[in-house]
Amino acid sequence: MRIYMERNIYNLKILILGAGGMLGTDLGHEFAGKCELFLWDKNELDVTNKEQVLAKISDLNPNIIINATGYTNVDGAEDNKDLAHKLNADAVEYLVKAAQQVNAKLIHFSTEYVFDGTDKSGYKENYPVNPINVYGQSKTAGEKYIIEYRLGYLIRTSWLYGHAPQIGKPRGMNFVDTMIKLSTEKSEIKVVNDQFGKLTNTRDLASAVHELAKGDFQPGIYHLVNEGVAMWYEVAQEVFKIKNIQTPLIPISSIEYPVKAKRPAYAVLLNTKFPQLRLWQEALRDYLS
Ligand SMILES: NC(=O)c1ccc[n+]([C@@H]2O[C@H](COP(=O)([O-])OP(=O)(O)OC[C@H]3O[C@@H](n4cnc5c(N)ncnc54)[C@H](OP(=O)(O)O)[C@@H]3O)[C@@H](O)[C@H]2O)c1
Repeated sequence: MRIYMERNIYNLKILILGAGGMLGTDLGHEFAGKCELFLWDKNELDVTNKEQVLAKISDLNPNIIINATGYTNVDGAEDNKDLAHKLNADAVEYLVKAAQQVNAKLIHFSTEYVFDGTDKSGYKENYPVNPINVYGQSKTAGEKYIIEYRLGYLIRTSWLYGHAPQIGKPRGMNFVDTMIKLSTEKSEIKVVNDQFGKLTNTRDLASAVHELAKGDFQPGIYHLVNEGVAMWYEVAQEVFKIKNIQTPLIPISSIEYPVKAKRPAYAVLLNTKFPQLRLWQEALRDYLS
């Protein structure tokens, strides 16, 4: 058994970027009161503006930068390749440069979509990437800067849902809330049952990032996800069971639900380096209670 040393982060200056996003919101809650915390969103710093990134981060001089920004619209990326690349790759390069200037740890998030989803045994941290859509390609391009950075922590995660307000945002509602909303509007709901993944609660992920920040973990790649593999259909079933919703769910194949971007069929992240997060059903129950 490995004993992890804990560091006191109380004296550290921590900067969260994309603080108004779904994950950024829960990261903000998680770190509040535990360090000197700075929460910046696009209004405070546009991460695609290289000069601004270098100047503002150098002025602030943080010990840890947590980058929760991103172009996260998977289908939208197919038509907005340049924008996705700017935010998911170019901005990451600028952030690494800025982190280097002040010798800060840089924690960054990537996705299961860097893998092609053909290996049913799942994907360990060191598995070679092979993205099959524009979003995955842009995230892969960003990953390389973090991997090369001496103090870079690359966290891959998947199928996020969280409490941050989503209405009016380009990303739309998370899957869990969408299912509940649809149950009030439709007599039956069709849900895909041939894509497998790990549903992850942003609150659990934020708590794991806190552990990572205060522990003696080495820079590198981490797969932080709630445990247990599911299909979207099974997730919907579990949501309805917990909320006692009676609307019938109809399993369908991806072919019957055409979307712009190709999805990896079996994008299951295996966490072999970090204490495991709890089961997805338990995390979902907490979210819905
Ligand atoms: N959602 C998932 O299922 C999932 C799965 C795996 C990995 N991830 C990764 O996890 C990270 C966070 O995802 P999320 O779902 O929390 O994303 P999100 O809700 O879309 O949040 C992204 C945040 O970045 C901000 N942002 C956009 N452009 C910016 C810019 N130019 N400068 C500064 N900030 C900017 C957004 O502000 P506005 O809202 O004002 O545009 C938003 O607050 C991303 O890197 C994503 O790729 C997400």
